[in-house]
Amino acid sequence: MNFDSIGDFISLLKQKNELREIAEPVSCELEITEIADRVMKSGGPALLFKNIRESKIPLAINLFGSERRMAWALGVETLDEKIRELESLIQIPEPKSLVDKMKMLPLLMKIGNFLPKHVPGGPVKEVIQKNDVNILEFPIMKCWPKDGGRYITFAQVVTEDPVKKKRNVGMYRIQVIDGKTCIMHWQTQKVGRAHFGGYRERKEKMPVAIVLGGDPALIFSAIAPMPPDVDEYLFAGFLRDAPVELTRAETIPIDVPANAEIVIEGHIDPNEPLVTEGPFGDHTGYYSLEDKYPIFHATAVTRRRSPVYPSTIVGKPPMEDGWMGKAIERLFLPLVRLTLPEIVDMNLPVEGVFHNVAIVSIRKRYPGHAQKIMHAIWGLGQLMFTKIIIVFDEDVNIQDPAEVVWRLGNLIDPKRDMTFVNGPLDSLNFASDLPDVGSKVGVDATRKMPEEGFTRPWPDEIEMSADVKKRIDSIWSKLGLT
Ligand SMILES: Cc1cc2nc3c(=O)[nH]c(=O)nc-3n(C[C@H](O)[C@H](O)[C@H](O)COP(=O)(O)O)c2cc1C
Repeated sequence: MNFDSIGDFISLLKQKNELREIAEPVSCELEITEIADRVMKSGGPALLFKNIRESKIPLAINLFGSERRMAWALGVETLDEKIRELESLIQIPEPKSLVDKMKMLPLLMKIGNFLPKHVPGGPVKEVIQKNDVNILEFPIMKCWPKDGGRYITFAQVVTEDPVKKKRNVGMYRIQVIDGKTCIMHWQTQKVGRAHFGGYRERKEKMPVAIVLGGDPALIFSAIAPMPPDVDEYLFAGFLRDAPVELTRAETIPIDVPANAEIVIEGHIDPNEPLVTEGPFGDHTGYYSLEDKYPIFHATAVTRRRSPVYPSTIVGKPPMEDGWMGKAIERLFLPLVRLTLPEIVDMNLPVEGVFHNVAIVSIRKRYPGHAQKIMHAIWGLGQLMFTKIIIVFDEDVNIQDPAEVVWRLGNLIDPKRDMTFVNGPLDSLNFASDLPDVGSKVGVDATRKMPEEGFTRPWPDEIEMSADVKKRIDSIWSKLGLT
């Protein structure tokens, strides 16, 4: 199952009774946040606001806000289906005979099917505005009281490397200054920011497309931590099991999804000074402080005749993006295991806001193995940002917070088992002395080996003997205890 548009997905949610349409007049300044926050915190439905004071265009929010809706957004009933598909794709056996090679043909054809496809035009070109661009015609939210302004929060920002001509799609928030001008918040280590650096060196204007909507798989692909040169729209093709249809933008040399709701085309001039962005109520649960980011100038808006504006809010967890982050954790675990097969499980708790805390369990084989895992994680894509990594043995259920705390307290000798390192941190981290860089800690909660210098006896865990359990099972119903 895949969706042609966000509208298709909204229809499915309506049919499944997972969408509430709100006709009551509300403001996109703070009021939608207060409603959506209450709904997100209580595991409620997706919301479609149809009567927004500042705009004629309806706003959809919390589309991904449950495990089930997140899976539906990727065209499956449960995420496990997608994880199995991904595993079968990456565990291609080495073909030994011609017959083996023939057996791989359907797989290769499937991969070919993921490649983006070019089409002329598309629904996103139903309305084309060039001289009359006004971004403020959309219901762009002011999310929290101390926010620096109104923000586009659920965009796919499409850029291209000026030399390699490789596309990147990243979700970065965009602060709107006026109807034609915005500020682009790509953080220091992100790929959009790296592309910007390339244009700055060449002193060339950078074309940028801000895409809203399309198949929900496209929105999801924008947050996926893909390697810099891997196209997110190729990944979206895998997720939706069909190519993403792309069409050329009107005023910039960038391809955009033909089925998007809205595309804001424009450029960033690297010669222009950076301006103050923020503050912004962020997914850490705190306001991110003001900082300097580049200005985006809109050159055109193309859109559907009756578009829906997709949005989200971030704030104190749990929020909608928690479900998206969990889906990333599950889908990317098989890929992490390609490099680190000894990892049994990984838990990035929602309250750890994905870059603060990672808990992993491993099949420990050799002295120092837990430290090797920590350093490998700190060297793996956006996992480099992880401030606290806790490593357990494979028998620990790291998905159970109570078990994690119980084991952690028992298993570690703090001075011996903590590894401190310095390195890059997420720009949202405000506790380090400097932005973007600071310290991180790895906690080795695995059972220590004599080769690691631990020679004391290790106590057994308390377990009742099997025969006693069996006997009590057999008389349990007579005890009147259940
Ligand atoms: C709702 C939401 C908002 C986000 N906002 C930003 C942002 O403003 N800046 C940023 O650099 N990353 C932001 N991210 C994280 C990026 O989307 C994520 O790191 C992504 O993998 C970056 O893509 P890239 O590696 O292609 O740059 C946000 C994620 C979500 C879910």
